[in-house]
Amino acid sequence: MNKFYVTTPIYYVNDRPHIGHAYTTILADVLARAHRLLGTPTWFLTGTDEHGQKVQQAAQKAGMTPQEQADRTVVRFRELWKRLEITNDDFIRTTEARHKEVVQGILQDLYDRGEIYRAEYDGWYDVGSETFVTEKDLDLPEGKTPADLPGIVRIREANYFFKMGAYQEWLVEYIESHPEFIQPETRRNETLGFLRTKKLADLCISRPKSRLAWGIDLPFDRDYVCYVWFDALVNYISAVGYRRDEAAFAQWWPASVQLIGKDILTTHTVYWPTMLKAMGLPMPRTVFAHGWWLMGDTKMSKSLGNVINPMDLIEKYGIDAFRYFLIAEMTLGQDAGFSEEAFIRRYNSDLANDLGNLLSRVVKMIGQYCGGTVPEPCGTPAHGDERDLWAALQKAAGKMESSLAAYQLDRGVGEVIAAVRATNRYLETRAPWTQAKQEDKAPLRTTLYTAVEALRVAAALLHPVMPGRMAEVRRAIGLASAEPAKAEIRAWGVTPPGATVGVAGSLFPRIQPAAAAAPAAVAQPQAAPAPVPAPAPAVPGVATITYDDFMKVELRTARIVEAEKVQGADKLLRLQVEVGGEMRPIVAGIAKHYAPEALVGRTVVVVANLAPAKIRGVESRGMLLAATAGETMRLLTVDGDLPSGARAK
Ligand code: MSP
Repeated sequence: MNKFYVTTPIYYVNDRPHIGHAYTTILADVLARAHRLLGTPTWFLTGTDEHGQKVQQAAQKAGMTPQEQADRTVVRFRELWKRLEITNDDFIRTTEARHKEVVQGILQDLYDRGEIYRAEYDGWYDVGSETFVTEKDLDLPEGKTPADLPGIVRIREANYFFKMGAYQEWLVEYIESHPEFIQPETRRNETLGFLRTKKLADLCISRPKSRLAWGIDLPFDRDYVCYVWFDALVNYISAVGYRRDEAAFAQWWPASVQLIGKDILTTHTVYWPTMLKAMGLPMPRTVFAHGWWLMGDTKMSKSLGNVINPMDLIEKYGIDAFRYFLIAEMTLGQDAGFSEEAFIRRYNSDLANDLGNLLSRVVKMIGQYCGGTVPEPCGTPAHGDERDLWAALQKAAGKMESSLAAYQLDRGVGEVIAAVRATNRYLETRAPWTQAKQEDKAPLRTTLYTAVEALRVAAALLHPVMPGRMAEVRRAIGLASAEPAKAEIRAWGVTPPGATVGVAGSLFPRIQPAAAAAPAAVAQPQAAPAPVPAPAPAVPGVATITYDDFMKVELRTARIVEAEKVQGADKLLRLQVEVGGEMRPIVAGIAKHYAPEALVGRTVVVVANLAPAKIRGVESRGMLLAATAGETMRLLTVDGDLPSGARAK
């Protein structure tokens, strides 16, 4: 790819930004940052849509002029983007002269060439969406006329029309022969379905000033302003120099990807391509329509009053966690439900437990065993566990890159987190706490250096999503630059041995869910719970139980977050485990078999509905499962990656 030009829709300035706007902009930012990281010249455009009825009405309501309304609201968008560390290269406002002049130039040109004509219109008009509608569009209930519907009025007036209908056949053919043009496929089919079954009408591109004064004047008839959508769509080319700066325009247009929400599919996949065609311009490579953020089952929208203000979440959980959640949680193209519980669950599992925990373990062990400086490894990861881990990281790098091209960022991010988990497992297998006790320190140094390199690669891959926190990871492992370079991702041995490691505080402190209620306990006999199961009695003595009996035992996967010795009890460890987002203490009699630092990060199996008990004065809510044979004890774990809280049966 020789350039990457990405756009977001331009947002109406009739109200403050919400999570839906933040999502599209963060998505564009992640794509832009990732392409810059890959070395592709990148241009990222966003902005505001400032004309039209919606803005005029909002201004009226607020008792100010539309321009004042726009000037006031645009600040909110700019501030939010700054806060979210959005790296847009330009911000266009449709009230700027550089935009208005281009719109007028295009209108005049299309009018001169007969692509725009004047005609009498007599029909129905939807005031809310500012569009002319037919009875068919309205899906009328039995016995009703359009006039019975709220917001639908009869209009008879002269207007100007763009000959959109003339491009119907061409557009169908273009979409069919360019599968990458409208993505994902469901949206492509939606547009094609509509174009194949309905006759495409010409587009009314004017509004008489007597009805709506807030817009760009038609250059050939000053009694009219331009229809807001025709004006707005032009921003994608006016901002990069169309009719103003030929060199810039040639450099950036056509756009690589235009991100939109599925609510504005028709304007971007029917109006926009036909407008470009009439201007004789190439089509954007891809228009990608993402789904909606839902609250429960309904779209989050200003009119429904169920919007989430991004500022609230940023204040509470931080910018990077917010960016991460939006990217990791939404499968591009589909709708996603927003809830604070889902936010906390994902944060605790991916960021606090996997990534944050890996960094703090590694930094702590380097401090403890290597004097706080990155140790020198023994050679390259050519063998065994090191080779496997490095391969997993490189696989994640490949997936991240392919997920960019396929607009499947959630998958890419998921692969990186899986590689982080693999690194935590690698540490468990290599057991640097045991290696530290050996005479030969080479294995210890190799283990810790490999973990540092794994952190470096994971942080580079996640950098476009969480630029602030990933820069902190780099600092913590002693790297001089805050930003990764492309060549680093595939290279081994980039972190300089000898660099000082250290981190102030926790990268992603755990969030304690407010209502972390323990699951209801099933009635238990009052016997004190044994922290670790006793050795199995001989099989003949074990009573047979029914399936229902067994199902009373709630076995769940749990991730060990903290482990420490219980003072004055040499067999006991006090663990903090996370079970599906909920934290609980468990006292386990495994101290003779497991060092506390060897346990953190491991996924084990617990009895989650055991009645709480105090063991040596320490609260325990659940029981860890372990099996013993003679002197050997082994924890029951799971065979591969599984989130905590998964039920075992
Ligand atoms: N001004 C027009 C776009 C003109 S582009 C030439 C517009 N603006 S908008 O402010 O109403 O919304 C813009 C975009 O915000 C939507 O297309 C979508 O990308 C995003 N979202 C608004 N609500 C959303 C959700 N609930 N969920 C996800 N994104 C949503 O339309």
